[in-house]
Amino acid sequence: MTDPRVSLAGVEFAGPAFTASGCAAAGKELSGFFDLTEIGGVVTKSIMMRPRSGRPTPRMVETPSGMLNSIGLQGPGIESFLANDLPWLAERDVSAVVSIAGESVEEYAQLARILRNEPAVKAIEVNISCPNVESRGQVFACDVMSASSVIHQVRRNSGSSTPILAKLSPDVTSIAEIAVSCHNAGADGFSMINTTLGMAIDTDTLRPILGGVTGGLSGPAIRPMALRCVWQVHQLLPDVPILGMGGIATGADALQFLAAGASAVSVGTMTFHDPSAPVRVQRELLALLGERGFATVGAAVGIAHRGGLG
Ligand SMILES: Cc1cc2nc3c(=O)[nH]c(=O)nc-3n(C[C@H](O)[C@H](O)[C@H](O)COP(=O)(O)O)c2cc1C
Repeated sequence: MTDPRVSLAGVEFAGPAFTASGCAAAGKELSGFFDLTEIGGVVTKSIMMRPRSGRPTPRMVETPSGMLNSIGLQGPGIESFLANDLPWLAERDVSAVVSIAGESVEEYAQLARILRNEPAVKAIEVNISCPNVESRGQVFACDVMSASSVIHQVRRNSGSSTPILAKLSPDVTSIAEIAVSCHNAGADGFSMINTTLGMAIDTDTLRPILGGVTGGLSGPAIRPMALRCVWQVHQLLPDVPILGMGGIATGADALQFLAAGASAVSVGTMTFHDPSAPVRVQRELLALLGERGFATVGAAVGIAHRGGLG
């Protein structure tokens, strides 16, 4: 039997599988399918300062082994989150990893200040994969300076004991370079990867299908790319924890992420097909770790870099 507990930047979680931001709102919808305290925790949909209606419809397209979404950070805003969602998670003892997103560096700083006094927040995932209004729509995570200034401000404005995970985008020349700059700016760990930009065209109308033209590609189609990103960042920063994600559908997929260097995993798109996917993936992963003789989840982290099982 493998001990299911994992530690991410000094904070302990009950298991190695989490929900992925945006794929399970703040957990309520999944609670009818399984006990949310069994998994590592719920990573909330990215919260912004104000309520947002998101991008125009249609906002989802199925693709081979994946999907495109252009939801555009629809959500109720931080006040509603603090009034309704966070207390709901805290009352049920569910570990909450709160994802935050802002259009400007100051918006991230404000969100970090607000969350600073919330004891129910076990970690903050900083979604830097959204456009920066101050830099004419450039995505924060695609530029070393913008990525590190967001992380620096979140670090300065957060409680010192709250781990900060920088959520990285694969749409960069060197994800390791962005990771190093975020780490130097105060990130305790990384969540990777966010969706990769794609699009689809309707062959009857010959127009883009998504209302927002482009969207984020997720699901098994991106798994090899996600695994490569985790591998590259772990190789450079082996002591920095990674919450790995991107097309994880089974325990065997999750095991690959651990071997590449992830300390835990998030399950996103698969949840739309199978709402119990996070807990199922966790059970399958723990069974595979047990069969291979790992006493702890941590013992398998990065093992592919050390010659595997020998
Ligand atoms: C419908 C949908 C909404 C998402 N919303 C967010 C979000 O609000 N914040 C964020 O950081 N990532 C968001 N993501 C990205 C996921 O958290 C995850 O990084 C990505 O989908 C890769 O994992 P997967 O292939 O298991 O879905 C969203 C993904 C999907 C499919």
